[in-house]
Amino acid sequence: MSKTATIDTETYDGPSAAEVLKAREQNCFPMMSYYKEPMLIARGKGQYVWDDKGRKYLDGFAGVVTVSVGHCHPVVVERTKKQLEKLWHTTSLYLYPELPRYAEKLLKKLKPANPKLDAVFFTNCGTEATELAAILCKAYTGRSEFIGLRHSFHGRTMMSMTLTGQSTWRHSTPYLPGVNLAPSNYTYRRPSSMNPTQYAEWCADEVKNIIDHATPGKIAGYIAEPIQGNGGCIMPEPEYFPRVYKHVKDAGGLYITDEVQCGVGRTGNVFLGIENWGVQPDIVDMAKGLGNGYPMGAVATTREIADSLKGRLHFNTFGGNPVACTVGEAVLDVLESEKLPQNAKVQGDYLIAKLKQLQTKDERIGEVRGLGLMLGVELVKDAKSKTADAVLATDVLEKMKAEGVLIGKGGQAGNVLRIKPPMCITKENADQLVDAFEKALKR
Ligand SMILES: Cc1ncc(COP(=O)(O)O)c(C=O)c1O
Repeated sequence: MSKTATIDTETYDGPSAAEVLKAREQNCFPMMSYYKEPMLIARGKGQYVWDDKGRKYLDGFAGVVTVSVGHCHPVVVERTKKQLEKLWHTTSLYLYPELPRYAEKLLKKLKPANPKLDAVFFTNCGTEATELAAILCKAYTGRSEFIGLRHSFHGRTMMSMTLTGQSTWRHSTPYLPGVNLAPSNYTYRRPSSMNPTQYAEWCADEVKNIIDHATPGKIAGYIAEPIQGNGGCIMPEPEYFPRVYKHVKDAGGLYITDEVQCGVGRTGNVFLGIENWGVQPDIVDMAKGLGNGYPMGAVATTREIADSLKGRLHFNTFGGNPVACTVGEAVLDVLESEKLPQNAKVQGDYLIAKLKQLQTKDERIGEVRGLGLMLGVELVKDAKSKTADAVLATDVLEKMKAEGVLIGKGGQAGNVLRIKPPMCITKENADQLVDAFEKALKR
């Protein structure tokens, strides 16, 4: 047992990290762990978490970009408790007010991205949302050709894994036919012969090339994250998505925006990440921040596209149950009352400026990129070679933890630091994070 530790105002007297790790290894499938000594998280509150020894950390990764309004937010907790006492579960085979009330509120948030988004279906997670989005494309267009992007991540089922463009996230298994992956608009790693705009246009035109050469000329859909999260916070140039959109529409395809990481205000000010790029998605996938850690997801689309499932049985036991809808509605209310997307913009801009300042002093910071609190820092051996430095990334993560700050990492080579805290962070938190990063970088 670990020694009793004081955590915020509570005590932790549960098993130690070593005991939990051992029990997990004995009883569960193999699981990944960050850190040489895997960390036990005993408590969360706002933008902070505590370990089993009572040590407090700034949570700069938010449980993999999921805790949106803050750990255990009191408004969300209170409303969820009340719902738990009233009705835990029923399904859409019956009527209950929580579901349409939440659906209406969520759809209002999506109107700036596309005013025609007027039907939503609730799922349990992001993977399932990707799957349903693909089913919708097939049902609506009658076709099964999809284009996704390299460096993407869309989930863990057969279709979502087939759409995922990173070897690290693909098992050795036959993939589903009909899917092609186009180059991602990864400006930092573009060929030296092209400037950023030329490269963006080239990448967009590769989508057209795939349509022309690897499909019958018409497709079911195209899927992309507005900023690729897991792939290393890869942010396209402004020219990229509008040009792709035209190619997709010319080929009769539907445009799916995977907002599992970028949605719910994370990119700053706007609700969906795609609003930054000026194209109107036909289908929106959401999860993670939608439930602030409660397992839930959603797919939104137009009534016309949703109606393509009419006459087919479509059902989900847990998706959109009364507790999920209560959590989701409370998250939206807190997001609004505390102006968190606006805070994401302010703190994100501040963090980017500070990180870029640091970059001028250390060439191992290859690139600082992202929007709002969807930020990435690509670490390289030196500015000229741009050789990915995954060892440094792992080392920085360890050292920042020792400074009391947790962040994530990603990218195909594992060399991109991912900074995606709950959206309630303060300027002091941003300073703390950058200070810890600067210390960790010192050789
Ligand atoms: C962009 C994106 N899409 C889909 C998923 C899958 O979501 P889930 O893990 O909830 O199934 C993830 C998960 O990390 C993601 O980042």
